Formats: sequence, C-alpha cells, structure tokens
Amino acid sequence: MTDAIVVEGLVKRYGATTALDGVDLTVAEGSVLGLLGPNGAGKTTVVRILTTLLLADAGRAEVMGLDVVRDADAVRASIGLTGQYAAVDEYLTGFENLEMVGRLYHLPKAEARTRSGELLERFDLVDAAHRPAKTYSGGMRRRLDIAASLINRPRILFLDEPTTGLDPRSRLAMWEFIAELADGGTTILLTTQYLEEADRLADRMVVIDRGQVIARGTGDDLKAQVGGQRLEFTLARAVDLAEVAQRLRPLALEDARTDEQTRRLSLPVRGGTEALAEALRLLEGSGIEVLDVGLRRPDLDDVFLTLTGHAAEDAAPADDAHAEPVATAGEAR
Ligand SMILES: Nc1ncnc2c1ncn2[C@@H]1O[C@H](COP(=O)(O)OP(=O)(O)O)[C@@H](O)[C@H]1O
Ligand SMILES: [Mg+2]
Repeated sequence: MTDAIVVEGLVKRYGATTALDGVDLTVAEGSVLGLLGPNGAGKTTVVRILTTLLLADAGRAEVMGLDVVRDADAVRASIGLTGQYAAVDEYLTGFENLEMVGRLYHLPKAEARTRSGELLERFDLVDAAHRPAKTYSGGMRRRLDIAASLINRPRILFLDEPTTGLDPRSRLAMWEFIAELADGGTTILLTTQYLEEADRLADRMVVIDRGQVIARGTGDDLKAQVGGQRLEFTLARAVDLAEVAQRLRPLALEDARTDEQTRRLSLPVRGGTEALAEALRLLEGSGIEVLDVGLRRPDLDDVFLTLTGHAAEDAAPADDAHAEPVATAGEAR
C-alpha cells in the first residue's frame, strides 16, 4: 500500500519550547491514523506543518507524494482541513459559508452551490441551511466546518480534535460521519486526546508526548501495552486501600494504583466480569466498606502512566494560551 502521508524527523521550536522533537509517521492511503496525545503534545503543530500553514525547523513531510514546502500550493489543493477551532463565518448562513469556501477552491458558481446543498444534506444541516451560523450549536458548527473541508472532495482529510468540546450525542454523530468518510476511502489524520475515540475510528495510532512519539500500533497493541481492563474501587476509608491492594494481588497484572485523597484504587486485571466477581469474593468478610466498584477499559491516562510514568495532565503546559494557533515568525504565509 502506498503512503498518503510521510513525516520524517520533524522538528519545530517556538523559542525555548520544542513543540516537535523528531516525529516520524506514515499514513497508508485510504486508512485512518489517530494522532493521540494530551494537550500541548504537539498534535496541532504536526497538522499545521502537514497542511502547509507552518514551516518546520527540520525534517520533511509529504502529502500524496508532494513536499509540503516545495509543493505547498498543490498540497493545499488536494487536502481538507478542519481546525480545532471551527473556522466558520458567524454572519453567513450555513449555505453561504459552504458556497464561499467552494468559490475559494475555484469551483464554478453553479457547482459550488450544488456541492453545498449536497453537503448540507449529508451533515444534517438542511433545516438550518439559511440561518446565520452564529445561531448554530457547537455540534452544528463542527459539522459545518467538516462539510466545508470536504467541498473540494479531498482524498486526504485532517481533523484536529473534531470532537473536543462536543456533548456526547454530537460526539457520537461526529464519529459516524468520520467513519462514513473513512469507509468511502478518504485518508484521514485525526488528532485526539481520547484513546476511546482513536480506538473507535483509527486503523493505527501514534501516541505523542512532548513532541516525541512514545508508542504506535493498533488500538489492541496499545491496550495490550497498558494491560487490559481496570478494576476500580472507591472505599469509605482511605486506611483500607493497602489491605484491598493486598487481598486483590492474585488478580493483579501490575501493582494497584491508589489515591488517598479520593480513596480510589485502580488495578489492571486479566478478564472482565470474572475478575470483578472474584475481587468481591476476595474482599468478603474483610469488613472493608466499598462505596463503588466497577470495570473500566484503559483510557489515555493509563496509556500515559504506563508508557511515560507520568499522568497525561502533567504533560499539559502550565500556560495554555497557545492552544489557539497564533501567527508567529515561523508561519509559512
Ligand atoms: N504559536 C506558538 N507559539 C509558542 N508556542 C507554541 C505555539 N503553538 C504551540 N506552541 C507550544 O508548542 C507545544 C505543542 O503545541 P500544540 O501542537 O498546539 O499541541 P497540541 O495540539 O497537542 O495540544 C505546546 O507546548 C505549545 O504551548
Ligand atoms: Mg491542538
């Protein structure tokens, strides 16, 4: 299979901050890559370099065999980009927004209008087509933003945190749209902070932290690395945490994680409900008061803790002011 995206040794610095520290990745044509990492990991920086909006300090990147610096115009013509912050004009209607983007891509007026109509239908925006975008909900804006990125029928689509900030229902709908595009053969690079989202949509995942790739593989590969499901207990008294950890040791794949403050204990186990039943049996007669118990699949925090030894939130920069892209001297144009 050919690679639609090739990234080699990408480095990007912002003053003293090294946003990317030698990132390598490839995305096979027609596949979905999940670029997974906490806030500040460097996800948007990768996307901005690949979409020709930002110049790297070192390394190279190709999209459909085109160099993102030398062949920037051709790259831009062949991709769709959906930003983390929806680039929708508030005062235009949904229809007008799409038509305008179509014109920016040099579609003839009639074709821009037809295409806009098709996309409004596809993204469930027909009823709202002639209302100003400022009246749209978050989920509707995000859908309009994706629709706009599809106007030129791109074979490659970049989605930067497409569901961050969406309510659960809109998130599910967005997942369905993305899955449909993937089924239609569009190559997708999707960034996300959620393992569940990458797991659901991506064929392969690359996990980055502080500008470096710390893991890659399928969702199953990653989950195998972090060791299956977690048993989670909340106890009435923090003093009992050690005894629970002790009693459940026969089930544990790794040491339990405990938190005195929340009185919680998290334990990677083999198997699912059997482990849960066995755990309750092991605690019988102990007199320990359990407030809550459950099974949970590993999330990004577990991946992080296992792979880096620190929790995902530790990796977030203290100053989040740069989350929204701002123009700097490094901008390509
Ligand atoms: N324009 C900028 N100026 C200075 N620092 C930046 C800028 N953009 C991003 N950064 C920093 O680069 C790092 C990676 O940021 P980013 O790629 O936005 O991460 P993510 O998208 O994974 O949250 C962070 O430490 C961020 O603060
Ligand atoms: Mg980002």
